[in-house]
Amino acid sequence: MSTFQAPKGVSEYVPPRSAAFLAARDAFAAAAARAGYSYLELPVFEDTQLFARGVGESTDVVNKEMYTFTDRGDRSITLRPEITAGALRSVLEHNLHRGALPVKIWAVGPVFRYEQPQSGRYRQFYQVDLEALGSQDPAIDAETIALAWDYYRELGLRRTALHLNTLGDAECRPAYRASLQAFLRGLDLDSDTRRRVELNPLRVLDDKRPEVIAQLGDAPLIADHLCAACKAHYDRVRELLADLDIPWTENPRLVRGLDYYTRTLFEFDHPLLGAQSGIGGGGRYDGLSQTIGGPPLPGIGFGLGLDRTVLAMEAERVPAVAGTAVQVYGVALGDQAAREVFKLVTGLRRAGIAADQGFGGRSMKAGMKGADRSGAAYALILGERDLAAGSVQLKDLAAGEQIAVPLTDIVDVLKRKLSS
Ligand code: HAM
Repeated sequence: MSTFQAPKGVSEYVPPRSAAFLAARDAFAAAAARAGYSYLELPVFEDTQLFARGVGESTDVVNKEMYTFTDRGDRSITLRPEITAGALRSVLEHNLHRGALPVKIWAVGPVFRYEQPQSGRYRQFYQVDLEALGSQDPAIDAETIALAWDYYRELGLRRTALHLNTLGDAECRPAYRASLQAFLRGLDLDSDTRRRVELNPLRVLDDKRPEVIAQLGDAPLIADHLCAACKAHYDRVRELLADLDIPWTENPRLVRGLDYYTRTLFEFDHPLLGAQSGIGGGGRYDGLSQTIGGPPLPGIGFGLGLDRTVLAMEAERVPAVAGTAVQVYGVALGDQAAREVFKLVTGLRRAGIAADQGFGGRSMKAGMKGADRSGAAYALILGERDLAAGSVQLKDLAAGEQIAVPLTDIVDVLKRKLSS
């Protein structure tokens, strides 16, 4: 250990665990590409106001959790506490919304929230984020939900559960909000929660404290206040999900920690993750573009926590993902042989074969130990005598059999063996 340790609460991945992280990220890239989503590479910091306005001044994320600082040019900068606002900012700035709609994009990277660290909750964590902009078709809601659902299945997760709700829109939400507020004002709540009732009453439905939950039994539900358009939208989303055999739990109290949501809202839970069981979530945000000064541009999307996804893979004992195991490992004895093995190993890589070698001019025994540890199927062993004969020893490490192969043929021989 050095004098330094990682800052409190960051998540980081080292081998062998990092292989699962990479697999989770790459599987998402493939799933997004398959569904026609293009990649965005975004900055990890933005103008603080983007989040204050976009995510919402009344949220914990903005009030308590942002990493905000003044840069040397006196600008207020914030490390992104989520990806959606920045993704939308970028789409608008680059005029992607002037082309064909919907604009379908995804991004991945670190996200920062100053939270109390615990298992599955970090101050720097990783999200994959996917957004579809410019369509109010409920089919796009169902597409994004199905994409996340199928992604978890493809990773090998079997126990992810989907929770669904709708939040209504500018048409029906105000009346619901008022009736919820009237109900909440009659409860026995502490002053912080009372303040929340005035600012963001829907969030109170999400309170996890038993003394609050106990009083919410008769709270009015949005489902009973939806306008006809929101109801039709939600019915269609559910119809399409049912057509895909995707099961969900209706959760009329589901609200999420960000202010921009309208209509469809969803969350993915994993039962083996304890307190931090939310492995992903998202929803529609038809007003966000205008909130950040853009044109009307409806949107829907989600963010999935890669850290929690990896924890879920471990909890479900999804078979270990192959790390950087190579297929072939070179062992050289003597200086001249080392020079040849170096060339051979690079040649194998150029031919698309994963190969590694021992370094440091070690003994045969140390070299073979390295070969075993590498996970390679074959070792290439080269001594001065082999070199003189123009051949190399090819050892099948599982079977223990060894044959001499002419140096000039070895790449082809290995190609054949590895593809059979
Ligand atoms: P979110 O629910 O705040 O949504 O975050 C998405 C996911 O990030 C969560 O479900 C969770 O898995 C993970 N996550 C959140 N906080 C932490 C943390 N402190 N440590 C580890 N993982 C965490 C959003 O961020 C929205 N931008 C999602 C979205 C996209 N909605 C529409 N489009």
